[in-house]
Amino acid sequence: MKTREHRIVASSVEETLRIGAFLGRHLSNGSIVTLHGELGSGKTCLTRGIAQGLKVPEGFYVTSPSYSLINEYPGRLPLFHVDLYRVRDVGELEELGLEDIMGGNGVTVIEWADRLAADLLNERLAVGMSIVNDRTRALQLTGYGPQAVDLVERCLEQFPWH
Ligand SMILES: Nc1ncnc2c1ncn2[C@@H]1O[C@H](COP(=O)(O)OP(=O)(O)O)[C@@H](O)[C@H]1O
Ligand SMILES: [Mg+2]
Repeated sequence: MKTREHRIVASSVEETLRIGAFLGRHLSNGSIVTLHGELGSGKTCLTRGIAQGLKVPEGFYVTSPSYSLINEYPGRLPLFHVDLYRVRDVGELEELGLEDIMGGNGVTVIEWADRLAADLLNERLAVGMSIVNDRTRALQLTGYGPQAVDLVERCLEQFPWH
């Protein structure tokens, strides 16, 4: 599969939100974004930005769906925000019906996507997040497949800093 990588450094919460909003403006129906990285690395913060870019109304405050596992928000496209941190076993995963959601009508953002079987993840944008210091996060973007590669290339133009 065609891939493309780009590293961005976000030196404040606002920058992470701005990067997320840019992604949200350019994602399309059926897009999948997987977020990787330790607790506190900014996955939920980036998702909040993606929600802004998808025009989720401001009355909805995006929080980690740790207990519900999936939150759905209305927007330019529906946003499905999934957090697999608390998933215990494969059975619980199957109950979620993720396969129906992914590639369906909307954008799916998945925190802790490493818990999914690799074959569930095909074309997508993967964002590996890491803590640089108190205010700074590094975002490693990898696009898998032509659409995601195109989006990574747009990010390269928009956010050349690394
Ligand atoms: N540049 C930054 N980008 C995102 N979050 C940041 C940044 N700098 C500091 N933070 C802080 O890091 C934490 C990130 O939390 P969160 O987005 O919930 O992470 P995760 O979902 O990966 O566990 C927040 O407390 C946020 O204020
Ligand atoms: Mg989170």
